[in-house]
Amino acid sequence: MRQSTRGDVDPFIVMDVMESARKAEAAGRSIIHMEVGQPGTGAPAAALTALKSDLSDTLGYTVGLGLPALRTRIARHYDDIYGIDLDPARVVVTAGASGAFVLAFSALFDNGDRVGLGLPCYPSYRQILRAMGLTPVEITTTPQGRFQPQPGDVDGLDGLIVASPANPTGTMLSKTELAALAYACEDTNTALISDEIYHGIDYGTRAVSALEVTDDVYVINSFSKYFSMTGWRVGWMVVPADHVRQVERLAQNMFICPSHASQRLALHAMDARPELDANLEVYAANRALLLEGLPKAGFGTFAPPDGAFYVYADVSDHTDDALAFAAEILDRTGVAVTPGLDFDPQDGHRWLRFSYAGSTADIAEGLRRLTAFMAER
Ligand SMILES: Cc1ncc(COP(=O)(O)O)c(C=O)c1O
Repeated sequence: MRQSTRGDVDPFIVMDVMESARKAEAAGRSIIHMEVGQPGTGAPAAALTALKSDLSDTLGYTVGLGLPALRTRIARHYDDIYGIDLDPARVVVTAGASGAFVLAFSALFDNGDRVGLGLPCYPSYRQILRAMGLTPVEITTTPQGRFQPQPGDVDGLDGLIVASPANPTGTMLSKTELAALAYACEDTNTALISDEIYHGIDYGTRAVSALEVTDDVYVINSFSKYFSMTGWRVGWMVVPADHVRQVERLAQNMFICPSHASQRLALHAMDARPELDANLEVYAANRALLLEGLPKAGFGTFAPPDGAFYVYADVSDHTDDALAFAAEILDRTGVAVTPGLDFDPQDGHRWLRFSYAGSTADIAEGLRRLTAFMAER
């Protein structure tokens, strides 16, 4: 049967690494997962307990924009965390950040529109844009610019996606930097999309929301990371007031609504902060271990990991083929790591991403194996 060219997107290499790691594990090997970008924990226990009593309800479709109680609770979250007075009407509940991208790109762009993304970045931005007939424009970034796009990069674009903290680097944009990007976008009629999925996972400095500098933005967030609910597939978007109706029409037609049970769980999870903050203590301990141990193992050049749970290390002293290097590391040590090619088709062949979202015992063991492997090499 015929196939579209729009569907001809690249594979998500980390998923392939996960599959190799799974096969090795199934064959009885001890595998340390430093490839996965998801918390080792599940949804908060208190939220799961509360969900149990919801399950006797019918849980039919919700309205397209999401449960009103959840939209109101998300708006309150902006007041609690950022001191922003947000109208719940601007909140759209989605099937994860991934579902939000599809809605945002549909609402903002026409066929062929040019949407900028700073390399390295989350790979699916590029692939979803392509699958939707849009043109991803890869922006080269620098270590001095914290691997983030700069205001001068915005010219000639119809849209710009930024993420702070970013995946894979973990770098963040300051309020001044975010404001400069927002103003550059306003000046050039470029739609700004701010992926804030790693908000809540930072180390000393709170991540700034684009909503603190402008209302002329699509902010995308998710229950997958801080709220530790990857598999429940629920996230949200905040859009300008005059975009709500258009997004609602798209959401109704594309998805009807996000999973009702997941929305209920998300609502309960928003009141489980003490349990979720305990996860942060684990990430902080893991991060400290890696920041000390990776340079000793021979991975000493990395992006400043301000937030999220990744270290993105330059491995060009050891290889110019990060894919083969990651396969060798998995084979010889049982530690699964992600080659940079997912995030950066131009330069990713000399980078590896280490995720420290797992348990501290696992990260310590992973580091021990990596150190021994590099010492023998
Ligand atoms: C930067 C970034 N944005 C979006 C996503 C997708 O998240 P979700 O599970 O909410 O669809 C991820 C997943 O790892 C991510 O790293």
